[in-house]
Amino acid sequence: MVDFLSTFHLSQNLTKQLEWSYNTVNLTNGDIMKFYLMHKDIQAASLNINNETGRIKSVFNISAPEHLPIGVEYAEGKADKYALDEWWEYRCIPNRRTGIEDALKKLKVQNTLALAVRGNALSLTDKYWIKPTDSDLKWADVNFVDNPNFSDHVGKAIRRHNWVDSKALDYRSPDITTNGNLFKYWLQENGKPYLVKGGSLPFNQQPFNEIIASAIARKLGIPHVEYTLHEDAKPFCRCDCFVTQETELVSAWQIYRTIKKKPEVSTYSHFINCCKQLGIKDAVQSINQMIVLDYIIVNEDRHLNNFGFLRNAETLEWIGFAPIFDSGTSLGYNRPSFHSDEFRCKPFKNTHAEQIKLVSSFDWIDFSKLDNIENEITEIFAVKQAEPYIDPVRCKDIAALVRRGIEYVRKLAQCSESCKLFDDINDDVVKDTAIYYDR
Ligand SMILES: Nc1ncnc2c1ncn2[C@@H]1O[C@H](COP(=O)(O)OP(=O)(O)OP(=O)(O)O)[C@@H](O)[C@H]1O
Ligand SMILES: [Mg+2]
Repeated sequence: MVDFLSTFHLSQNLTKQLEWSYNTVNLTNGDIMKFYLMHKDIQAASLNINNETGRIKSVFNISAPEHLPIGVEYAEGKADKYALDEWWEYRCIPNRRTGIEDALKKLKVQNTLALAVRGNALSLTDKYWIKPTDSDLKWADVNFVDNPNFSDHVGKAIRRHNWVDSKALDYRSPDITTNGNLFKYWLQENGKPYLVKGGSLPFNQQPFNEIIASAIARKLGIPHVEYTLHEDAKPFCRCDCFVTQETELVSAWQIYRTIKKKPEVSTYSHFINCCKQLGIKDAVQSINQMIVLDYIIVNEDRHLNNFGFLRNAETLEWIGFAPIFDSGTSLGYNRPSFHSDEFRCKPFKNTHAEQIKLVSSFDWIDFSKLDNIENEITEIFAVKQAEPYIDPVRCKDIAALVRRGIEYVRKLAQCSESCKLFDDINDDVVKDTAIYYDR
């Protein structure tokens, strides 16, 4: 009990939160729990959830259909349960996350869905959560902005760091709803949350790639999440949370499913059509910028959950493209040497050579801003954390890869109108899945 309290924010809401934690822990496996699906303080629907598996058994009483997650269709009083399940599952930690089995054992839950349920499915990335139907919890009581001292139990289990076995586990942490296959956890410092992310063997290159991508985006004026090196013996990067108390991220994957795709419409055009239908403005220019950045860094994993748009979670008004995040699986991150024909590409085309043809305007690019990028890349790798993984030859090769990308884009930008914006269904990405990493 003392251990539990010591890691918990001692706020006026403590009693309420403790009550809820104990309720959950004392349930028998397989019991059905009754929740409201909440969007801040708006009750969107009722959910029955299996306590053991964390799966949604049923969704009913849709009281605010417009507040259902984007992509979950609603008609004649019913929500698309299949789409809701997909959204629910994708919002949790994936089974392929590095080290997750061990963390689940420590946290005494069967899977990552059940883990999310234990922590009210609260998130730092969107404003959804689940509230027991017999509870009077309010958004103000539970959200991680007003209550920044979230529990570190889940984070410690994921990090295998300072773990103390405790009966009174508190699962309320943004880690439970942060997806992605790479090792990661949220950290709080002076009341502010930071996301810390690792890389994968053999080169542990992704954290450095994030920092390089930030530098390129900054120089080109592309709105992006700024990643910096995290102080640790191993390579990790860190970044601020990019959503505010008002906003939330809606992934491109959610947007992509709001219209049924016709086979004769390309992946790119389909996505732009979905944006238009939802009333999202300026999608084309933001996508132009993302494709150019991904070309330069040879990003291999810009799947539809690695970009999205921000909206106001109360008014549902679209705000704009989310700053570019998750650019680490790039720059030949796992390859001993770089051959351009090997690089994968997403989300629109299977090759970068085809995808760059979708860019409708290059006139926003000031190439001179990238003149010094090779030196900056050398500096980014000149840290002790990089030494065991990236030797000077690899560092040079990475800088050369970036230069090659810049020069190709420059050529294309100088080219006549006829060689720009070419879109058909050839070489379209059909299966959009995230890369996973060897453990
Ligand atoms: N700075 C941030 N602020 C808020 N939410 C974030 C932030 N960065 C990432 N997220 C959320 O966390 C998720 C996982 O992060 P990220 O994509 O960086 O991880 P990853 O493991 O590299 O993913 P992948 O499996 O695509 O490789 C994102 O899809 C997004 O929903
Ligand atoms: Mg990702």
